[in-house]
Amino acid sequence: MSQTSQQFANVPQLAADAGAEQILAAGLAAAIGPVTLACSFSVEDVVLIDILHKVASKVTVFALDTGRLNEETYEVAEALRERYGIAIDWYFPEGQAVEKLEREKGLFSFRASLDNRHECCRIRKVEPLRRALTGKGGWITGLRRVQSVTRAELAAIELDQANGGLLKINPLLNWSDEQVWAYAEQHRLPVNRLHRQGYPSIGCAPCTRPIREGEHPRAGRWWWENPEHKECGLHR
Ligand code: ADX
Ligand code: SF4
Repeated sequence: MSQTSQQFANVPQLAADAGAEQILAAGLAAAIGPVTLACSFSVEDVVLIDILHKVASKVTVFALDTGRLNEETYEVAEALRERYGIAIDWYFPEGQAVEKLEREKGLFSFRASLDNRHECCRIRKVEPLRRALTGKGGWITGLRRVQSVTRAELAAIELDQANGGLLKINPLLNWSDEQVWAYAEQHRLPVNRLHRQGYPSIGCAPCTRPIREGEHPRAGRWWWENPEHKECGLHR
């Protein structure tokens, strides 16, 4: 699949209240080439794996191992492998880029400035994502509108120009926190233990802290930055 032909993928128009399975079905039908799920092992992504398993789709699952993930996140990955018999396509950052970054700027350079933070995210997340999406016709995410001011305008299916023109499919965009957790509990899904320890949103260990009562769910991500900066380049 060339990147050029992906530019012409048809973006299906869906009703504003389309459900997750409907969005998935439309995205899978419209994608030109294989579709893959981006899995951070958050509760949203586990819900998506369960739904995909039920509709017997051939969607693959990939994960970006930044080298700075929590142990609890790896435990969920293993629980999912066992429960669903799925393979997880892990992607690592380029070794030389990480070596250079850590030798020149140390292990916590991302705290020093927004530029430094973006540099680390670019090396550990964005570049591996680009490799994970090469040759794909679409990718599925666990993004939801209520997660952040940066996600309020999210569409169910969009053309992802930044990653070469493939479809980006967001089946849970309209789900509330309550809906996600009700689904996970009803189906007894394996969820990250950190969610129960005050972490509604989980990324890299040194860039995520638990939130305090009343704080926004993403307040613990890059907590030293303003809310409008809180994207790492995966979702712009
Ligand atoms: S982030 O950009 O701020 O890190 P967030 O943690 O909210 O993203 O996750 C949103 C979606 O991005 C997840 O549901 C998943 O689809 C994708 N994602 C985030 N981190 C990863 C990762 N390490 N590997 C694969 N997909 C990821
Ligand atoms: Fe680096 Fe933090 Fe971004 Fe992870 S979230 S890639 S540790 S800056």
